[in-house]
Amino acid sequence: MTCILQIGPLTERFNRGLAAEHEVLRFWEEGADALVNQNAQRIDVVVTSGRFGCTAELIERLPNLQAIISFGVGYDAIDVAAARARNIPVSNTPDVLNDCVADLAFGLIIDSARQMSRADRFVRAGEWPSGGLPLAKQVSGKRLGIVGMGRIGETVAKRSSGFDMQVRYHNRRPVEGSAYGYESNLVELAQWSDFLVLTCPGGESTRNLINRDVLEALGSKGILINVARGSVVDEPALIEALTEGRLGGAGLDVYAQEPNVPQALVDLPNVVLLPHIGSATEETRLAMEELLLANLRAFLERGELLTAV
Ligand code: 8YV
Repeated sequence: MTCILQIGPLTERFNRGLAAEHEVLRFWEEGADALVNQNAQRIDVVVTSGRFGCTAELIERLPNLQAIISFGVGYDAIDVAAARARNIPVSNTPDVLNDCVADLAFGLIIDSARQMSRADRFVRAGEWPSGGLPLAKQVSGKRLGIVGMGRIGETVAKRSSGFDMQVRYHNRRPVEGSAYGYESNLVELAQWSDFLVLTCPGGESTRNLINRDVLEALGSKGILINVARGSVVDEPALIEALTEGRLGGAGLDVYAQEPNVPQALVDLPNVVLLPHIGSATEETRLAMEELLLANLRAFLERGELLTAV
């Protein structure tokens, strides 16, 4: 029987199903650390997620580890370099969440511009009879800048055609055959954009990519949308720009220190705050679980991963 170290809980359905077919050590339960030490030689596979990750220290503790199989497309919390150094392959769950993350990005665009969450709070607080809200910003016909033209960025761009938006993007390099204009200079893209949407990977290569200069360029009429990773944005600079009115607004699904959201963001009326729910629909989470399990099966049967990173 395969011995799996599961780093954190996923759905009840998934946890139960995995444990029914394999020997599973649950790393989040009490006493797990000692259990891992006792069974370190026997652990073949780590099952984790973008949230729970897998550190180099843990990889080092497992001398016979053969694969790391993860839930989620982002793998910045997994030390892939440490895994590679030991020839341990890593898989993620790409593509199946493109639509839901792109839907949410568009929801944030519309909500941030049209202040829907703010208007909802206004109605619930009984404020409507005593006045109106400030006028909002139109979405249709505006300029959409995308940072990271991968599978999710492309899906966001596709949605924009229904809103007659112009699209340009920034990426490490131009995407061959892309229908959208490439901008090598991120500050210039921000200057051009009404909405700047982040759909790039997290990790060291993109840390604080959205810095003071980029926020300044996006400007007091611009809106930043982040469905990527909190690490991509210099969060103190974002808070400063919003507080001082140098940035028009923000729609955020991810933060630097999840699940902690800085109080300064909570206090701002022109910011929409979501609790990292980009892929959190029944349909997509089920598809992600199935892809994770398909990777596990393929690895155990044939020694190969379907969606290796
Ligand atoms: C998941 C995500 O919530 O796929 C990703 O990279 O951020 C989300 O879909 C997360 O990975 C689960 O921990």
